[in-house]
Formats: sequence, structure tokens, C-alpha cells
Amino acid sequence: MQRTQAMTSVQPDWENFYPRPISEKTPFFSKDGRLYDCLFAQQLNRELLEHLFSTADRLRAVTQKKDGADYVSALLSDKRAMLYFVQPSTRTFMSFLNACHILGIKTSEIRDTTTSSEVKGETPEDTVRTFSSYVDMIIMRHPAPGFVEKTAWLMNRTGRPVPIVNGGSGKDQHPTQALLDMYTLHRSFGGELDGKHIVMVGDLKRGRTVRSLSYLMKNYKNVSLSFVSPRQFCMEPDILEFLKRHNIPFTETEDFKGVMKSADAIYMTRIQDEHDKSGESKAVDYSPFHFRKEHLDLIKKTCVILHPLPRRHEIEVTVDDDPRAVFWRQERNGMWARAALMAYIFGVDGKIR
Ligand code: NCD
Repeated sequence: MQRTQAMTSVQPDWENFYPRPISEKTPFFSKDGRLYDCLFAQQLNRELLEHLFSTADRLRAVTQKKDGADYVSALLSDKRAMLYFVQPSTRTFMSFLNACHILGIKTSEIRDTTTSSEVKGETPEDTVRTFSSYVDMIIMRHPAPGFVEKTAWLMNRTGRPVPIVNGGSGKDQHPTQALLDMYTLHRSFGGELDGKHIVMVGDLKRGRTVRSLSYLMKNYKNVSLSFVSPRQFCMEPDILEFLKRHNIPFTETEDFKGVMKSADAIYMTRIQDEHDKSGESKAVDYSPFHFRKEHLDLIKKTCVILHPLPRRHEIEVTVDDDPRAVFWRQERNGMWARAALMAYIFGVDGKIR
């Protein structure tokens, strides 16, 4: 692959680079006019989203038959990917791993820093640089905000850059989750996403999925948002500022029942108590932010219920049988959406017909 101007020109050091607006930073994470490192939801514009949705649809269709599945699994059989997931993960890890297998990408994994040379004192930066010596892509989940981006920044300055895909970074971003959430909405609404009222519920302050999903709303017309959360865990001001800048109307409320009636989609989340400093989650009554079976009678016939999962009690298990509960389909959509993204990054998306 040809390195772009942005990559070869003199770049500022990390401390100067990191605080810059995303719009200034994205050229550094692109190559030949294509997204190269997938780090922020803001990198996904409407054209790219729709392209990835149709690629995912084609992948599903083509792989239904064995000869199609064999064809697709040869597309990237010369590539290897590293899954570096040093924060707990079930779905994101499994869906990326299986998306790699669908495309024929060979995989290796580290899920615990105690099994790598980090225990000998090697820096995380040197550790990930080492992976890049052996593989063609690194898919990462890391607890420190900005670390995935720093890895991509570091890699792009080396003689052997490999694309970095963000599988969840700290509390700040989870762009491929936003991609699969949008893909699920796209499939649920038959492609008609404009004009929808989307209600996000739960721990909005510390949930990275709702943050990344909010960024994607700038790609759609006349979308409105309602943020429903306990006061202590309301959406952070940077996201509200972003929505204002893009003229996306939103409301903030604790009255879940009041807003669910007009929702086209309800996006539930769990309390993110792993980020507690001194047990602050325990002080909150989360029950008003649960979706119960009786709520099924209050919502629209066409409303869909999403959840990035894992769930605790925020959605009653009996809700799962309702056709409007799409979260199990959503997690499977993740595998196809991530396969589409990797096919795109490696430039074989055009071969999936
Ligand atoms: C989410 C995450 O890790 O941010 N899960 C996921 O990726 N499917 C949501 C969560 O953990 O609550």
C-alpha cells in the first residue's frame, strides 16, 4: 500500500497530537483516501456506513452456500490479525475472531497482560509494536482512553504500519459497536433511518457505546435523541456539545415511561460500575431505568429494543420473546459488520458479489 502524504509528513509528538480535533487527526489514520485505522465513530460517514451495510448484507448472502463461504474465506487467507483484548470481552472478541475466520484471516490473541512480556516491564507501546512484526492488523480493547489511538499513531510512524481497529477504549469510544448498532437499526427500519426518535437509557456517562452511537447520528436527517439516565450518570457535556454543533435535537430526562411511547428505537445499557471510584453506583436506584414486560404494551408496534450486552437486569428476560427485542440479532450483526469493515480496510470489499 502507498503511504499517504499525511503519513510521511513531519508529525507533532503525541502530547501535541492527542488533544487535536478529530477532524484534524483523521487524515493521519487514512491511506489512499480510505479509512485505515478504525479508531473513532466520527470516521464513519454516511457513504461509508451504507457501503459497509451493503457489504455485510452481501457477505451474509454469499456465505450461505459452501462454495460462497469457501470463496470468501480465501479473500484474505494471506493475512494475519492479532486480537489484543486486555479488558473483559465476550461478544466483541468472539465476533471479531469469527469475522476473521469468515474472511480467512489467521488470528492470534492476548487477553491478559500477565501472559505477555509486560510483566517483565516492557511498555504496552513496545508490546503492541512487537505484534506488528508478526501480523497485518491489530484489533484492540484497552482500558486506558486514548491508548488504541496512540498505538495507531505510533504504528503509522514506523516502517511497518499495520491497521489498528478499536474494539473498545476506556470510557470514550467503541466505534465498531456503533457500526453494528447502526447496521441493526438499518436492518430493522428497512434502510430508513432518517427522522427517527432514538432513546438511550442507563449509565450514559460511563458507557462508551452510547457515546460512539451518538456521534453517528450526524449522518442522518431529522433524527432526535432522548437521553434517559439517573442524574449522576447523565451524558457527558462533550457529546451534548457535539449534538448542538450538528443541530441534532435532544432531551435529557429521568422519566423513561414518558419518552418510551414515542420512541422508534430504545437503546438500553447496564450500569458501568467497573468505573466506580468509591461505590457510587450503589447509591443509585437503577430500577426506573429498566425495561419490563409491561412496557411492551406502551411502546410503538414498530419500535425496536437494542442493547450492546452484556445485560444484568435492565431488560427483563421475558421481553426477549417479543419480535421487537432485537439485541440477539444485534450481537450477530456485529460479526457481519466487523467482517465488512475488515474486508474494506484490506481492500477486498469489491470482490464480495
Ligand atoms: C459493551 C462494552 O464493552 O462497552 N459491550 C460490548 O462491547 N458489547 C457494553 C458494556 O460492557 O456494557
